[in-house]
Amino acid sequence: MLLHREGIQSVVLEARTREYVEDRVRAGLLEQNTVDLLHELDLAERLDREGLKHNGIYLRYHEKNHYVDMAGMTGRHVTIYGQQEVVKDLTQALLDRGVPVLFEVGDVALHDIETDHPRITYEHDGQTNELTCDAIAGCDGFHGVSRPTIGDHLTEYEYVYEFGWLGILAEAQPATDELIYAWHADGFALYTMRSQTISRLYLQVDADDDIGNWPDDRIWGELATRLGAVNEGPIFDKGITPMRSFVAEPMQHGRLFLAGDSAHIVPPTGAKGLNLAVNDARILAPGLAALIRDGDSKLIDGYSTAALRRVWRAQDFSNYMTQMLHDLGGGQFERQLQLARLEYIERSEAAARSLAENYVGLPPEPEF
Ligand code: DHB
Repeated sequence: MLLHREGIQSVVLEARTREYVEDRVRAGLLEQNTVDLLHELDLAERLDREGLKHNGIYLRYHEKNHYVDMAGMTGRHVTIYGQQEVVKDLTQALLDRGVPVLFEVGDVALHDIETDHPRITYEHDGQTNELTCDAIAGCDGFHGVSRPTIGDHLTEYEYVYEFGWLGILAEAQPATDELIYAWHADGFALYTMRSQTISRLYLQVDADDDIGNWPDDRIWGELATRLGAVNEGPIFDKGITPMRSFVAEPMQHGRLFLAGDSAHIVPPTGAKGLNLAVNDARILAPGLAALIRDGDSKLIDGYSTAALRRVWRAQDFSNYMTQMLHDLGGGQFERQLQLARLEYIERSEAAARSLAENYVGLPPEPEF
């Protein structure tokens, strides 16, 4: 959409079906920067109607919720709106605005990326096709072909956690007005939502745990233990997601530019993943436009550095939230330190404000 606004032609190649990408349940917390950009692009009509605007969060420990008034401290908000809803809105808008989106594309390979005209070969509808491009945006996720294509030119940083999140969606009115991030002796839990009638909840579990070990009764029992009052209802989606921190640098080689999960993964605590991907796109598009339209590479040469500044900020914040709230396996001393950090946020406005400005998202870099 950003390239379309700049008058640059593009084609979107998607490996999966439209149904798959539009139904796949992901996180759902949009920073104000993300909401602002969707407004700027005239893509926020349904978001304005269905998104749930939030002012703060509860940090829960020792059976009590402690409110952090983020809007009060920063003047900024976050909005609950499922990632797949953003995908639906973007896909429809691309098609409406005449940008080709090809689904179920296979055998994608990238060629000549060190030249001014990189090529993409791919299979679609049983045919082999080739696209000659000015540039390629590698937005194909952690398991996509883009990053391995330039792997020899990248430095990779990675941390894999020993736990994951069991996530459910349930037909139940949320029992809380704001999200609850809970520290508990049994492990972390998060109470979030999708609407007035759909709750989304997460539990810390072992990374190699099997969803088969978690019948609905056990899930509700553990959620109630860690979160206090929970409204139960039919569970219609559940799964376990492993957690990792990952960065590949630089986010460019030749005319291939990495964006989103192809270049970086954050653990989900704080929900920065989608917001980082949107920020990459926000910086990348004007750089590509200047390169392609005017032959001016000044902006695009700064893409990786500018994007990585926010990526590493979010890495630190996501890791900080994760380490403060989960049972990391380091014993009682570690758990007491976590409680000391949580109490510091309650007692010190400086500590609460630092959490808040990271959670709602720092304002965009001014030069982009
Ligand atoms: C959601 C997910 C998160 O990881 C988070 O920190 C907040 C909300 C969500 O799915 O709603």
